[in-house]
Amino acid sequence: MWRVKPLDSILATAEKKSLHRSLGAVQLTLLGVGAIIGTGIFVLTAEAAQKAGPGMMVSFIIAGFVCALAALCYSELAAMVPVSGSAYTYSYAVLGEVVAWLVGWALILEYAVAASAVSVGWSGYFTGLLEHSLGIVVPPEFANGPYAGGLVNLPAVAIGLLVTLLLIRGTRESATLNAVLVAIKVAALGAFVWLALPLLKEQNFQPFAPMGTPGVIGAAASIFFAYVGFDAVSTAAEETKNPQRNVPIALIGSLVICTVFYLLVAAGAIGAYGAQPVFGPNGEVLAAGSTALTQQCSTLAQAGQQPLVCSKEALAHVLRQIGQPEVGNLLGLAVFLGLPSVILAMIYGQTRIFFVMSRDGLLPGVLSRVHPKFKTPHVVTILTGVGVMIGAAFFPVGQLADISNSGTLFAFFAVSLAVMILRKTNPDRKRPFRTPLVWIIAPLSAIGCVVLFFFLPAPAKMLFPIWSGVGLVVYLLYGVHKSHVGRGLVDGPELVPDTQPAPGAD
Ligand code: ALA
Repeated sequence: MWRVKPLDSILATAEKKSLHRSLGAVQLTLLGVGAIIGTGIFVLTAEAAQKAGPGMMVSFIIAGFVCALAALCYSELAAMVPVSGSAYTYSYAVLGEVVAWLVGWALILEYAVAASAVSVGWSGYFTGLLEHSLGIVVPPEFANGPYAGGLVNLPAVAIGLLVTLLLIRGTRESATLNAVLVAIKVAALGAFVWLALPLLKEQNFQPFAPMGTPGVIGAAASIFFAYVGFDAVSTAAEETKNPQRNVPIALIGSLVICTVFYLLVAAGAIGAYGAQPVFGPNGEVLAAGSTALTQQCSTLAQAGQQPLVCSKEALAHVLRQIGQPEVGNLLGLAVFLGLPSVILAMIYGQTRIFFVMSRDGLLPGVLSRVHPKFKTPHVVTILTGVGVMIGAAFFPVGQLADISNSGTLFAFFAVSLAVMILRKTNPDRKRPFRTPLVWIIAPLSAIGCVVLFFFLPAPAKMLFPIWSGVGLVVYLLYGVHKSHVGRGLVDGPELVPDTQPAPGAD
């Protein structure tokens, strides 16, 4: 269970593959920014406001800070071991097979559940766009899951299906398309900042933290989702030119760019429109995404009030309310166009993780079967797609994001430990990028992940150990016996040719 896959054999396995190294630092940074900017900033800003009020500015800083620490740890490992599999692969080399398995299992939460969350976020903007620009109202039963009195979120299922089909067909974004979509999203955020910032009113920042410090940290734990995706950069390490230099640049660069935008956007939304939480009829605290909040929001709507926290399209809503309905609709259009690429990156990342786990024998080989015509890993893509669609159909965006965060925080925690352990066990190995002040940064990163985890809402916190427990059983029944490392196939044969380059890799 504790056997490790030697680093040299991981690198040897990677070298046998013939993925074309085509991504440079700029493309890779764009890949990162493309995977990061999504539902978190465009939608979950409303949830963060419900948890923290204007204090969500601090939440954005806390979440960004923890991600930056984790990114510095990621960078050292990603540059040293520039292979697919990200946190799973690093853990396999350092922390042992069972931990690697659990990290891989947690990454299912990170990627697949995040894809569901982004699909639901997209659906909110899609229905809003239809309504505001074409006057078409999607019946609420088919635009929401049961959590908001609906039956099924059909637009969210439809976009999940579309992206899955595209991936099965082997469609992928060209680097150019990725760059265009990133430009559209960044332009939308830029326009928002441009229009909202001049309207800042100081009184909108008062009270700053109506839910106190726990509210602010709780919102940080949720809004952490807005930063997830930068690690997708490391999953493209095998397709990167000079990964030792370019991967760390792209990881940290994309994070810095997004943090700056997020802070400006949060300041604009709070200052121009207000972001105070909504309380129940008796002043009780209402959980973000709860049925009680939905009800209270419809009561307020009947009274003509439309607070930020009630909106499913937070940023477009702010723009519409500050007298810029056309720009609000354009921002909606940008989200409509841009978010599917985040879903694509997430589902793609998921199939790639499954792929590597299957290459190591920890998952059945059938999962990495390649479609005879399209040359894509269709089995694993269909499986992932179905899971993503089920999540998107029935669960609220905030809850999905929180669940995704629990898995991501675990993976980041493992990476933070791995970087320290490797410094001790393998001090002489060439490190093209060294985490600065590693004995401060890595422990802080690990502690930050644990703190944010404990500030997640109870359902996400409880689901994680259950999910890991199920994973452990699966491992004990299957992986522990089938593991290639365990069976002495140290450098793990290629089960199938890895044919699908990363999104954005031309
Ligand atoms: N960070 C990505 C988003 O916010 C996952 O959609």
